[in-house]
Amino acid sequence: MKFFADTAEIDDIRKLNDTGLLDGVTTNPSLIKKAGRDFIETVREIASICPGPISAEVVALDHAEMMREAETLRKIADNIAIKVPLTPDGLKTCKALTSDGTMVNVTLCFSANQALLAAKAGTTFISPFVGRHDDVGYPGIELIADIRTIYDNYDFPTQILVASVRNPIHVHDAAKLGADVMTAPPSIIWQMFKHPLTDNGIAAFLKDWEATGQKIG
Ligand code: E4P
Repeated sequence: MKFFADTAEIDDIRKLNDTGLLDGVTTNPSLIKKAGRDFIETVREIASICPGPISAEVVALDHAEMMREAETLRKIADNIAIKVPLTPDGLKTCKALTSDGTMVNVTLCFSANQALLAAKAGTTFISPFVGRHDDVGYPGIELIADIRTIYDNYDFPTQILVASVRNPIHVHDAAKLGADVMTAPPSIIWQMFKHPLTDNGIAAFLKDWEATGQKIG
């Protein structure tokens, strides 16, 4: 499973990238607003830190304007994936971009049928939002299972990018279902490292080691 950071905060991205476990970054207009910096500059900096796909989202709603924005965004760096919304115009844009060799991330997916349409449009990534689904009383993770089944039935190469991840349980469940990628806020990725028994074990080993009076090297 690939790990993407769902943030536009440069320091957080650098820190995660240093672990060697970061495979990409996703941004959206709300994350850009939160970071409080120029969109293009921010994406350029992220793309220079992390070699994996960096999603940058169009804000236009019609195909022609989406294509114009995508043209600007894809020129930022070679590792940009253009993020388009799951609408007829978004999928038309997706098809045009992927036919031309550009990576696309279709976002705001809330049903398996939407994911089927996006795969037919040739998207590189489909982003089903699990947390927002949970918010409205539907178990979002079930969507991942449905999309996995449908994509496997037809051998679609589209990667399932689990988005709107709110806790490590979402990551665990998505990994068991065979999702290809997950994108999560950095705090959730750091949470995944933690286990109280790991901390206790380290403390006990260090105490015993100290008692031996030995040194390594
Ligand atoms: C995905 O690409 C989105 O940026 C993101 O996962 C949305 O998450 P949220 O529902 O927590 O805003």
